[in-house]
Amino acid sequence: MEITKALCRIVPLAAGAGLLILVIGTAPAYLSLIDLTKGKEIYGDACAACHGDDGRGKVADLATEVPPPDLTSCDFNTSEADRDWMRVVSGGGVAAGRSESMPSFRDSLTEEDIKHVVVYLRTFCTEDWPRGELNFSRPLVTEKAYPENEALLTWNTGRTPSREHQTTLAAIIEKPVGARGQVELKIPVSLRDPDKRGTLGGIGDLEVSGKYVLYHDLKRLFIASAGAELKLPTGSLRRALGEGTTILAPFLAAGKGWGDFVVQSSLQFEYPFVEQRAPKTALYNLAFSYPVVNRGEGTEGQLFLEFNGKSEWGKRDAKHFQLYLTPGFRQSLTASGNWAAAIGAQLPVSPVHEAQYRVLGYILFELPP
Ligand code: HEC
Repeated sequence: MEITKALCRIVPLAAGAGLLILVIGTAPAYLSLIDLTKGKEIYGDACAACHGDDGRGKVADLATEVPPPDLTSCDFNTSEADRDWMRVVSGGGVAAGRSESMPSFRDSLTEEDIKHVVVYLRTFCTEDWPRGELNFSRPLVTEKAYPENEALLTWNTGRTPSREHQTTLAAIIEKPVGARGQVELKIPVSLRDPDKRGTLGGIGDLEVSGKYVLYHDLKRLFIASAGAELKLPTGSLRRALGEGTTILAPFLAAGKGWGDFVVQSSLQFEYPFVEQRAPKTALYNLAFSYPVVNRGEGTEGQLFLEFNGKSEWGKRDAKHFQLYLTPGFRQSLTASGNWAAAIGAQLPVSPVHEAQYRVLGYILFELPP
């Protein structure tokens, strides 16, 4: 019990610290060289025939199976990490699940040459967009800071202390807006089996949200965002599929990498419009991740460990502090890394908790830019 109490104190602090430590340390996960003149020269010799001198890929009479991308479009140019582009240039399109119209340069360019040219490719985008290196893998609970372009299915099933099973499946769409913004829609479906009454199910509370990148720094591998969620009382209150009140939930999210070791954290407050219906809630999340399978490849697999804290107040049955530990695993399913799945288990650490366990998972698909 003493240990749990201590943990209950440490974890919100750690989550706060997670948001703050971030400025320390740099990591060599992107290319900072280099010789742009050399890069331009290589580009002119080896790439411009297909990608065009201006990078737009509009070359007359080019007969490739798929057209080359427009490298001047920043949403395309910034979405992939240097590591991924080096893999494409070295191994050709097929090495990253793309078309073989993009040839392999492994035999004609040295690794240094490839670095020069990849850095040169980045100059085609002339606006300040957060780069793909900062698109850290999505944890199971902790909010991400990076603006996403994804469709997801999430799954969360658990047992309450009163032995009721609860499952929520949700479809989520996230679309970037401009260089730093993102909007999101979440449609949940909930299922419950209250004692001896058969299973109840239906649509839960819809959520719309937006976020904005406040700060991003590629050199320090750090990104921070602020956003707000609006939960609408679309779920039936009578059948306990929804909270029965609109809830406004502003949040902060940050991510920091030290090479491949990544810490992400989020802090969120939920303010119900009708205070008798739902408690005011604070959610603190901290997630650690590290790749353990196929590191640096499109098919990377990562271990996650999350600390998920929650405090409620304002309502008579508010649970003061709950803490869960959530180990999980995430695997990219394709060479291009645009399909991924994750699974994990959420286990209560605090004496007070609303779930004896939960099993969580997601499948995500990165939408084309
Ligand atoms: C024979 C034509 C051709 C040449 C030469 C060529 N490319 Fe490409 N490249 C393509 C095509 C076509 C695609 C689109 C592939 C796809 O989307 O499946 C592409 C895609 C790419 C991509 C984007 C990969 C992604 O993540 O979607 C990069 C980066 C790239 N090329 C870099 C280069 C560089 C650097 C060179 C020169 C060293 C080069 N290309 C030479 C045709 C070419």
